[in-house]
Order: sequence, then structure tokens, then C-alpha cells
Amino acid sequence: MTEAAAVPAVDLPGGVRMPMIGFGTWLLRGREGREAVRAALAAGYRHIDTATMYGNEADVGHVLASSGLARDEVFITTKLPPGKAGRERATLAASLRALGTDYVDLWLLHWPPPERLLIPAWQEFLTLRDAGRVRAVGVSNYSLAQIDRLIKATGEAPVVNQITWSPGRYNAALLAGHRERGVAVEGYSPLKRTNLASPVLTEIAAAHGVTAAQVVLRWNLELGVPVLVKSAQPERIAANIDVLRFSLTPDEVAEVSALSR
Ligand SMILES: NC(=O)c1ccc[n+]([C@@H]2O[C@H](COP(=O)([O-])OP(=O)(O)OC[C@H]3O[C@@H](n4cnc5c(N)ncnc54)[C@H](OP(=O)(O)O)[C@@H]3O)[C@@H](O)[C@H]2O)c1
Repeated sequence: MTEAAAVPAVDLPGGVRMPMIGFGTWLLRGREGREAVRAALAAGYRHIDTATMYGNEADVGHVLASSGLARDEVFITTKLPPGKAGRERATLAASLRALGTDYVDLWLLHWPPPERLLIPAWQEFLTLRDAGRVRAVGVSNYSLAQIDRLIKATGEAPVVNQITWSPGRYNAALLAGHRERGVAVEGYSPLKRTNLASPVLTEIAAAHGVTAAQVVLRWNLELGVPVLVKSAQPERIAANIDVLRFSLTPDEVAEVSALSR
């Protein structure tokens, strides 16, 4: 079995399966970006997170085209910048062209657009999904109140809300609120916003013979929260997905979550 096959996946509405560990590509561009994405695919990542705003969709597309992997072996997310609300169709077409693909697996509104466009942008996302250019649609950096407005207007919830999520920002009520609405929380910046020298993390890490970063990423899996992680360094890229050979006890999960207090 390959490493990629071992990464658990979540079922999103519409029959779309999303691997729970995604490779983040913010700030990865040009040659360094391409090398990092190549290293990620070699390490077993099968979920790549990009965005129009990152300016690296063509780099991701270039690596995918030369990877030898079939299109349906890699889950690709990209995102519409809020300033492009109102130009959804053209922006998606540009993303698909840059990525060299006929469809993306997940398309997100990167940030809430201006108030008057909140509902129209979501309606256009649903239309483009129904046209088959996108398998699933979601949002990023939305509040539950904003999500409720989308549901009220269209009867359809985003499948994902991609938000900042790390031990220090653990919020049980926020997680439950998303789950009640059928929206998966997808966490970003798991490491950047974490003190990896915290004794809670280093002690749990020592007990399992892993690093504090691996504890944080495993904690996401234990909570059932898909996580995006970025690195430009091949050893870290490999280590960050190597979190399937150990698990955390319920007490350890609670200790990590308590770092938010
Ligand atoms: N929707 C949004 O608004 C939004 C916002 C932010 C991020 N995201 C997405 O989420 C992805 C992940 O978030 P992020 O890039 O902000 O933060 P992150 O993945 O938590 O952290 C990346 C930082 O941590 C370092 N790092 C990586 N692995 C490490 C390890 N094992 N030990 C110690 N340090 C390590 C990286 O440095 P090196 O590169 O030097 O290893 C980099 O400085 C992004 O790349 C992007 O795809 C989305």
C-alpha cells in the first residue's frame, strides 16, 4: 500500500472524498514552489491547496502534468479572491487553464466578498459546480452567521469552511456549529500559529518518538479535522505526512486542545 492510500479521507456531500492531509502552497512559487510540490507528491500527498491569489497555479499544474499521476489521483483545491466576485466564471476558467485541468475537486471563496455580493457569488459557485467544472464548492474565512445566510438563500451549505485552526485556537463550539450545518472545517496554519516548544507538545512527542509538529498534525486527524500544511523543505514535507504510524490517546488529544485556554 502506498503512503497516499493510507491517508484517511473525509466524505464531502456529493460523493467527493478529500484526503485529510493537504499540501499547502501559500508562498511557494516558481522553481522553489515546483520543487516543493514535486517533493510533496513523492512523499505521498494527494491533496494540493492553491489559490488564484497565490500566483502559483501554473507551477502546480506544471508539476502535476509531469508527475505521471492520473488527474483523479490528486485532489486539487483552488480559491476565488474576494475582489473577483462578480467574475467567477472567467476566474475559474483562468484557474483551470493555469492548472492544466478540466475541473477542480474543490473551489472556495477565499474570503467573504463585499456584502452585496455574498449571496450572488455563492449562487454562481453553485451554478458552475452544476456545470461540472468543479466537483464541490465551499468557503474560507466565513463566520457561521455568513454560512447561515448562504444556506437560507440557496438551501445549500458550503461543503467546507477553510479556517485558521491550531491547538491555540481550538474551539469546540465552532467545530460543533460547523458539523451541525454539515460543513467540514478544514484547518490552515496548524504549525505557524503554534509554539512547537510548548512542553505539552514536546512531552507527548517524546512519548511517541515523533516531533511536536507531528503531534499537532496527528491531533487534527484525531479530531476529524482535515489539515493543510506547508513546507519548502523536503525533510519536513515528508515528516508532516508521516503521522499515520502513531495515534494520540483521548487524554493527549484533550491536553493539546487545552492549549487554547
Ligand atoms: N484560506 C486561507 O485564507 C489560508 C490562509 C493561510 C493558509 N492557507 C493554506 O493553508 C496552508 C498551510 O498554512 P500556512 O502555510 O499558513 O502555515 P503552516 O503550514 O502551519 O506553517 C508553515 C510554516 O511552518 C514551517 N514548517 C513546516 N513544517 C514544519 C515542521 N515540521 N517543523 C517546524 N516548522 C515547520 C514552514 O517553514 P518551511 O517552509 O521552512 O519548512 C512555514 O514557515 C497554506 O500554505 C495555504 O495553502 C489558507
